[in-house]
Amino acid sequence: MRAKPFLKWAGGKTQLIGQIKEQLPNNIKTKGFTYIEPFVGGGAVLFWILEEYPNLKNAIINDINQDLTNSYLTIKHNVQDLIQILKRWEVDYHSISKNQEKKKEYYYEKRNLFNTRKSNQTTQSALFIFLNRTCFNGLYRVNRKNEFNVPIGSYETPQICNEENLLAVSKVLQKVEILNGDFSETLKYATENIIFYFDPPYKPLNETSSFNSYAKDEFDDEEQIRLKEFCEILDSQKHQWILSNSDVKGKDPKNNFFDDLYASFNILRVNARRSINANPSKRGELTELLITN
Ligand SMILES: C[S@@+](CC[C@H](N)C(=O)[O-])C[C@H]1O[C@@H](n2cnc3c(N)ncnc32)[C@H](O)[C@@H]1O
Repeated sequence: MRAKPFLKWAGGKTQLIGQIKEQLPNNIKTKGFTYIEPFVGGGAVLFWILEEYPNLKNAIINDINQDLTNSYLTIKHNVQDLIQILKRWEVDYHSISKNQEKKKEYYYEKRNLFNTRKSNQTTQSALFIFLNRTCFNGLYRVNRKNEFNVPIGSYETPQICNEENLLAVSKVLQKVEILNGDFSETLKYATENIIFYFDPPYKPLNETSSFNSYAKDEFDDEEQIRLKEFCEILDSQKHQWILSNSDVKGKDPKNNFFDDLYASFNILRVNARRSINANPSKRGELTELLITN
């Protein structure tokens, strides 16, 4: 089985993979190539690349969300223990699937335990995956105190432990270095034969569609500018990169934010479908940006 994302994560890039593939350098298939993804999230592109190009020398992934990167680390180093815990909780949860009160009690108990952040790394990762599978729409949202505050979802018997996929993910993660920090810290890993793929939190298309709360700190316009400056540094060092973002101009023709910011690079507009949106009428076709140097 091919490894695929083990979480539901906002902005999953499965829909864009075909277009990203077209932008990859031809020599990515050769041995000795390194892939770096500084905003890895659910890792849709990462897992696709690892399976598609088995010759890849190694990969470096990073995310600022420590609950997320700890889950990658647990799957890499301790997948069997993780599977045992998740299997047990899946049996528990399915056995009370028809009893809404009991399910709520079970869910909020796990959520409280997660928020104490006192469990060992494997249990903490199991809690993270459990909440992702059972919460409302697979959302991730924390308050200022970094407490996960998404309510229970309405799934009757959600799959909590996909053993086959966790094992496949663990296998491909063996050649992946997992970092937890700001995207800019990946600079020191930039050597020869490298490709960076950036999938930052998208700039909201309008004030109310803000879906930018992956972490307790917001990724605002200043952050978008800081990211572009980082891309300029990579470009000056002759490293190749691909970056995706929302197409604010598609929504408002007068909004030239990205067209101005990345004016000296290549900007492509591609069709992409969003999968996480509470309002089904908003799950329509949208263009997104793929920018390369
Ligand atoms: C759009 S998501 C990535 C989606 C992912 N590539 C996928 O396909 O599912 C953006 C990620 O950036 C992370 N992030 C936000 N600010 C960051 C920063 N300053 N440095 C690194 N990661 C950051 C968030 O935690 C989030 O997981």
